[in-house]
Amino acid sequence: MRMPRALSRTAYSRYGRELLKEVLDGPIPNHIAMIMDGNRRYAAEILDSDRNEGHRKGEEKIEEMLEWCLELKIKYVTVYAFSTENFKRDKDEVEFIMTLSERALHRMADNKKIHENKVRIRVFGDHSTLPDSVKEAIRYADERTSSYSDFNFNVAMAYGSRQEIISAVKDIARKVANHELEVDDISEETFSEHLYTSDIPDPDLVLRTSGEVRISNFLLWQLAYSELYFTDVYWPGFRYIDFLRAIRSYQQRIRRYGE
Ligand code: FPP
Repeated sequence: MRMPRALSRTAYSRYGRELLKEVLDGPIPNHIAMIMDGNRRYAAEILDSDRNEGHRKGEEKIEEMLEWCLELKIKYVTVYAFSTENFKRDKDEVEFIMTLSERALHRMADNKKIHENKVRIRVFGDHSTLPDSVKEAIRYADERTSSYSDFNFNVAMAYGSRQEIISAVKDIARKVANHELEVDDISEETFSEHLYTSDIPDPDLVLRTSGEVRISNFLLWQLAYSELYFTDVYWPGFRYIDFLRAIRSYQQRIRRYGE
């Protein structure tokens, strides 16, 4: 039997408050990274609408989720917005996502909450493959927030982890060839310093929505020790309680391993 709407809202908000209390009692991850998946399925199955509506709702969810993270004082938040493989999608879809991203970056860079909370916005990936309008939006967001460090919002765009690793290997090989670096001095730290994420700590928690249990070429080096959390909900349908459940699961695992 379906619960009446108002009752289900009250029950959920009470549950949400209880979950929040529980979560605030435990260790909060310093860095949470999200593989946002399921925009198109959400549009087709839940909204009975076209895929662009799913992406639009997915983008709104990013801004909502960022507020939840700020509330919990999570210092680093990274989202996988567009992979190198995503360029293989329909031209119309790619163009739509690019325009959506460009607008989102401008809006976030002008958002009062971003400035009140001193959130630095950074976009990493192979920018050379992005349209000029997106490059310009990336520059704008970077310039407007580059002096901040209280919180960090990172967007992986035109990003692929294997490509990132290859590019790091090439940089290191060039330094060795130019006698700027000795082979025996190559360490995990040296390698990390050559990645896009050189000044971002590794994620504590990686979360993927939509029921897929894969990493899909996301932060392969960086997530070596991260906790992984998978949930069935599609990204645009990801609720506050789903978010809190993910953090609670992280806390339960950390507690178990720490014993
Ligand atoms: C995953 O769902 C979503 C994407 C590949 C694109 C998401 C990108 C945005 C909403 C733009 C965000 C931009 C910024 C700058 C924050 P899917 O399309 O793979 O859906 P499916 O799994 O149902 O096929």
